[in-house]
Amino acid sequence: MLNIIEINHLNYTYLPGTPYEHPALKDISFAIAQGEFVGIFGPNGSGKSTLAQMLNGLIQPTHGTISICGMSAADAKSRKELWKKAALVFQYPEQQIFQISVFDEVAYGPRNMGLPEQEIKKRVEQALLEVGLNPDAISKQSPTSLSGGIRRRIAIAGMLAIQPAVLILDEPMAGLDAIGRKLILTMIKNRKAKGETTLMISHDLKEMMMITDKIILLDQGTLVFFGSVADLLNQKGILKQYRLQVPDYVQVITALSAKGLPVNMAIRTIEEAGDEIIKFHRD
Ligand SMILES: Nc1ncnc2c1ncn2[C@@H]1O[C@H](COP(=O)(O)OP(=O)(O)O)[C@@H](O)[C@H]1O
Ligand SMILES: [Mg+2]
Repeated sequence: MLNIIEINHLNYTYLPGTPYEHPALKDISFAIAQGEFVGIFGPNGSGKSTLAQMLNGLIQPTHGTISICGMSAADAKSRKELWKKAALVFQYPEQQIFQISVFDEVAYGPRNMGLPEQEIKKRVEQALLEVGLNPDAISKQSPTSLSGGIRRRIAIAGMLAIQPAVLILDEPMAGLDAIGRKLILTMIKNRKAKGETTLMISHDLKEMMMITDKIILLDQGTLVFFGSVADLLNQKGILKQYRLQVPDYVQVITALSAKGLPVNMAIRTIEEAGDEIIKFHRD
């Protein structure tokens, strides 16, 4: 399968050569295949947001290489184009909304791409629908009159309207209610169904593991783990050290496996766990 993201020996140091010099990413290497959904985890200050900004071309590696859709971030020309390929939704994006209407806010990216107005309108409507908002009802409203949760959805729609090959979300669930969280998970599932790639920074493995293909775990700028959910479940020490909680039904399946039963460790949902348990009950 095609690797849409390839990162090799990536290092990033803030304020190099000053007394405030701080290595934020240290020798990070991984590759992501097209269509995968990747969860990025790690304690505060571990380098998650730095990595997200690097993927989007906002900051450049101190050492090492990044390639997205075959474009190298080291090449000044392709770097300028990177934001269209890999769109980043910042943490608390609702604080960075500045257009006077919802339509203009979501249209900002497509307009910068120089698309015709008809295409912009189509993309804005589609993006608003993807975040569960009715374009007819909301397009003309002023973002400032709307709640923080709705403004966050508008900010996400603004990135979806760019139709990026890679979407990166920096803690999009923070402070959202159950409906808002479910909506984001649905949006990611839809991207997966279309073969699009998404990376999401999160604190909640429990919530993400149903749809995550790969996990990246950072600690103090170092890549502690990179692999599948099934592989992570076998790393008891890592789960404990980083307080990564897994759903109860996954713990049941893991415990059955530890007792020597040949259970399928790739289960993701409670329904699959139920089927697996019934299978052994019948045997
Ligand atoms: N603009 C900056 N200047 C200097 N240091 C920074 C800057 N941004 C982040 N850092 C430092 O880099 C490290 C990683 O930060 P960050 O990527 O924001 O981590 P996370 O998103 O995992 O909380 C932290 O120690 C942080 O203090
Ligand atoms: Mg952060």
